[in-house]
Amino acid sequence: MFIMFKRAAVFFILTALLTLAACSETGNPGSDKNNETNTNNQMQKQGKADQTVSKSATLKLSAKSLQKGDKSDAVNALQQALKKIGYPIQISGTYDEDTTWAMTDFQLQQKDLDITGMYDQQAKASIEKALHGAVDVDPGKALPHQDKPQKDDHGIVISNPYEILSLVNKSHALPTDFVPKDLVTPDVPFPFTEDLPKKQMRKPAANAMENMFAAAKKDGINLYAQSGYRSYERQEALFASYAEKDGEDAANKYSARPGQSEHQTGLTMDVTSPAIDFGIDERFADTKEGKWLAAHCADYGFIIRYPKGKEDITKYEYEAWHIRYVGEKAAKQIMKNHSTLEEYLKKLPK
Ligand code: DAL
Ligand code: ZN
Repeated sequence: MFIMFKRAAVFFILTALLTLAACSETGNPGSDKNNETNTNNQMQKQGKADQTVSKSATLKLSAKSLQKGDKSDAVNALQQALKKIGYPIQISGTYDEDTTWAMTDFQLQQKDLDITGMYDQQAKASIEKALHGAVDVDPGKALPHQDKPQKDDHGIVISNPYEILSLVNKSHALPTDFVPKDLVTPDVPFPFTEDLPKKQMRKPAANAMENMFAAAKKDGINLYAQSGYRSYERQEALFASYAEKDGEDAANKYSARPGQSEHQTGLTMDVTSPAIDFGIDERFADTKEGKWLAAHCADYGFIIRYPKGKEDITKYEYEAWHIRYVGEKAAKQIMKNHSTLEEYLKKLPK
């Protein structure tokens, strides 16, 4: 009787120790119950955190989209999955800068995924394939990780220019050589026929533009797209011509220095209307097109990037025509609160 009790006690202690060891690997007790048999031959080193995890463990990835600032068990599961496929990120449950980096790098390495830095259902399917070794991933190959922000003459150099929520302003500049690889021409009306680079936008923004312009048309509103993607060199030439005309300081109130223009992200479009002969100026705000755009752009993931009354934050004059794609969640919050991208990003949990 005593021997049986002793054996049961030893068995109980051993089981408890093994369970503890399995849990400590993932940082998520209970999620990897069937993991132990897989681990021996599939262990791999996970960078600085020096942890080992199995690629084949079953993780339930969210059926809902996730993005920077989100805090949930779903984010925790996503972080575990990214870690299992080789990204040396912390499993914190908060969709932070490093999770955004890992997601963007992963999207850049896969074919046909929207590159956003956000988690969506396309990304879910690809991550699941990667967990089963069905697609190749080389963490950091497409977007090298930066531990510290780099600086140049134009301010902090944006480390993740593909991120849909990337902040481009007078203190955060795009790399000089950044040219998005997913530029396309949206199927929307332009007031000119030439095939110019300024017709282009990045794919996720172009899709949203097409949906928005179609909805406007249904409401009897004739939006026209005037000026989208601009290379660093194009912005350099534009800014130089405005500076020559008005002086640098005055020009910089309405035109960005090269590297500091959102037009280089491919996420921006200047929109106009026939009522003002397709001009890009303050008259747009009072046209029915300008009013429709301000009222509805958030439903399609766009914001009026330089709103009236926020000049002290954006450091630019009001531009009713300049819309920036940030995705629906952020856009709805920013437009509803009469806010700015700067204010939105500042409040996100880190
Ligand atoms: N007009 C905006 C500020 C730009 O030049 O990007
Ligand atoms: Zn603009």
